[in-house]
Amino acid sequence: MRHFTSVNDVTDLKTALEQAFEVKKNPFAYSHLGKNKTMVLIFFNSSLRTRLSTQKAAMNLGMNTMVLNVNEDGWKLESELGVVMDGDKPEHLREAIPVIGEYCDIIGVRSFARFENKEHDYSENILNQFIEYAGVPVVSMEAATRHPLQSFADLMTIEEFKTKPRPKVVLTWAPHPRALPQAVPNSFVEWMRKADYDLVVTHPEGYELAPEFMGDIKVEYDQDKAFEGADFIYAKNWASYTDYGKILSKDMRWTVDSRKMSMTNNARFMHCLPVRRNMIVTDEVIDSPASIVIQEAANREWSAQAVLKMILESM
Ligand code: CP
Repeated sequence: MRHFTSVNDVTDLKTALEQAFEVKKNPFAYSHLGKNKTMVLIFFNSSLRTRLSTQKAAMNLGMNTMVLNVNEDGWKLESELGVVMDGDKPEHLREAIPVIGEYCDIIGVRSFARFENKEHDYSENILNQFIEYAGVPVVSMEAATRHPLQSFADLMTIEEFKTKPRPKVVLTWAPHPRALPQAVPNSFVEWMRKADYDLVVTHPEGYELAPEFMGDIKVEYDQDKAFEGADFIYAKNWASYTDYGKILSKDMRWTVDSRKMSMTNNARFMHCLPVRRNMIVTDEVIDSPASIVIQEAANREWSAQAVLKMILESM
């Protein structure tokens, strides 16, 4: 593996999962792989889990790590080509990326959708500039359209908790006060399709995800119906893709609560975190034994470590 930006960079999902469970069992078995190697983690946006789990994963593999919070610790970086740089951004990505590449062996980068222009966000302008100009492998720590390290951890978690070979997994939209990107749901659908689970997506009308991610997955607009017999409920908010970046609903009837969970097959509750309690999910559900959000977040370390291991092994 050279770069990791989506499930398409994983040659074989079964092998990748085996590697993730192997490093989970024995985190320091490959600490020789990263000796004298450095990973730079670059954040254009805030993070708790991704920052700590990826840094820990790199350290488990023996790597040194450096973290740069663009816009806070460093120069503000311009990402558009052809602009007259007379504003508040004194450096362009075109120079910054190859310079960072000179100081390290792997770059992790997080950048969110800006919601100014759908085509621009979906072109993955920032991530693709890193891939083009870094000169070293690049790992997406969430980009405008995908969050693959999260989805890999989600897949691990479902594999650990499933009680049947092909569980029914429901991705449900839930209300949120702010407009959030589609990266997590896009990526989740992509990984669940590849895993060939019985995937159902439910959301209010107007929240349809991009067709290239949904493929032939059907939408069930009736959330109660979608929950029937579900083995896993994966809740997430996202802003509209069609009416790009807009909040079309804050309908609290979509909040995951105990009544809805009672319609499932004793489903486990999942969310990538951070989660808005009593908007996305009630306290009662997230504090119940059905909730596996902490185990899910814990698996972020192992999904990141498996990816970094595969990259280090192919250097
Ligand atoms: N789930 C996730 O990516 O969390 P952070 O934004 O805290 O990294």
